[in-house]
Amino acid sequence: MRVSLATSCVAALPLLSIPLLLGAAEPSYYRDVRPILNRSCTSCHQPAVKSSGLDLTTYAGFQAGGARGPAFVAGSPEESLAVKFITGAIKPSMPLSGASLPGADIDAIRGWIKSGAKDDSPLEITSLEPTVYHQPPVITALRFSPDGKFLAVGGNREILLHNADGSGLAKRLQGDAERILSIAFSADGKLMAAGGGTPAQFGEIEWWNPVEGKLLRTVKVSSDTVFGASLSPDGAKVAVGCVDNTVREFETATGKELYKIGGHENWPLGIVFGIDSKRLVSVGRDRAAKLIDANAGQFLENVNQTRGELTAVARHPNKDEIVIGGEDRVPYVYLMDRPRNMKVGEEATLVRMLEPQDGVIFALDWSPDGKRIAVAGAGPSVNLYDAETGALTASCKGHSAGIYSIAFSPDSAHLATGGFDGQVRLYRTADCTLEKAFIPVPLVPSQSTGTGGVN
Ligand code: HEC
Repeated sequence: MRVSLATSCVAALPLLSIPLLLGAAEPSYYRDVRPILNRSCTSCHQPAVKSSGLDLTTYAGFQAGGARGPAFVAGSPEESLAVKFITGAIKPSMPLSGASLPGADIDAIRGWIKSGAKDDSPLEITSLEPTVYHQPPVITALRFSPDGKFLAVGGNREILLHNADGSGLAKRLQGDAERILSIAFSADGKLMAAGGGTPAQFGEIEWWNPVEGKLLRTVKVSSDTVFGASLSPDGAKVAVGCVDNTVREFETATGKELYKIGGHENWPLGIVFGIDSKRLVSVGRDRAAKLIDANAGQFLENVNQTRGELTAVARHPNKDEIVIGGEDRVPYVYLMDRPRNMKVGEEATLVRMLEPQDGVIFALDWSPDGKRIAVAGAGPSVNLYDAETGALTASCKGHSAGIYSIAFSPDSAHLATGGFDGQVRLYRTADCTLEKAFIPVPLVPSQSTGTGGVN
């Protein structure tokens, strides 16, 4: 296996872009044009959905063009098909069925074509080689498949499907996003959705057929990572939190953005749908938990506002009860809905508070049998509580640092944890016996001649 430049340079990427930023005079594909295409065009022009044969996710695809031929003519914006479509000179104007591009975006594309339409992307962007790891990656997402066969683990530019008992790596599912922050399965296990992105470049939602290991669709969203990707129980929609403080909903069948919902005053970090898929709750850095009508794309009301930033949310498997937590270290169990006539600050929907944790809360999960709530974060242990009484039932130890993701197995008998130290740990839920600990990626010793980048 060749060590690809791509992955050994990941950490060096921000450094690479500094000279580009300083030399701002020369129009750049990588810096100026690509983000516009990702934002406004690649939902329809990507490998999985090539409208009119056109893939705008790579320079090569843009250059090759679609059914009508090359999409640009270097040096001549007027003769370039892409310009004709975005200015409406050829109909239907692009982006299809959306608002036309802001003038600054059109000027940026024109300017780049006029200056010769050069490809200045760093090599790593188009690499399809499997990621090579010299160090375990920080684990930010973990989820068991509903049939109990697999544990999906977010890696660098990929999702790793492990046998659920930790006995081995079954499949590597490669995507574009450098980091996967959330993984969700539909109830029937036929669909897996993942959200994440490459910081300061793009956010991405990926839809997979996990059984076949097939990428069904990807959508690039905004110009930064997306948070809290959640799949509605019926599988029809994915909701994510974006750095423009919106919660956005996307349709699984088409990848289309259905709604962009305002209301949060800072980044929404966690999202969960209600059992009927009709409502969702988002929690964010603005300390608020907000109830949203998922069908109308409308903010309904605040579930609550806590004293600290909220980072995580999980729902009871068959009741509209949620547990939320974050900076103030207390897990709160709330009813999802709030009677309309309740006053601000009134706490009638608060079911219970669990004991304060040793550190900020980063992750929560509710066992599929409804009996346990697991809480993890900056503290060294993952605590398990009886969901009915709020009593601590077990404390899972052995982590060396922050824990960013936890997941119960479908039979509720096991808990998987992962975080900063790059180890996946499997515990017995009943008493926190450690059953297995493993590094979820194949590790390759680093070479002293490397570029200095590490994973
Ligand atoms: C909602 C989906 C959608 C979005 C978003 C979209 N397109 Fe398209 N695009 C289409 C469809 C469908 C066609 C085929 C239209 C036709 O042939 O009538 C098309 C055709 C094109 C073509 C002609 C390709 C060929 O050779 O036939 C170009 C160029 C193009 N789009 C550029 C863009 C650009 C640039 C953007 C972003 C600014 C964009 N599109 C956004 C759906 C979309």
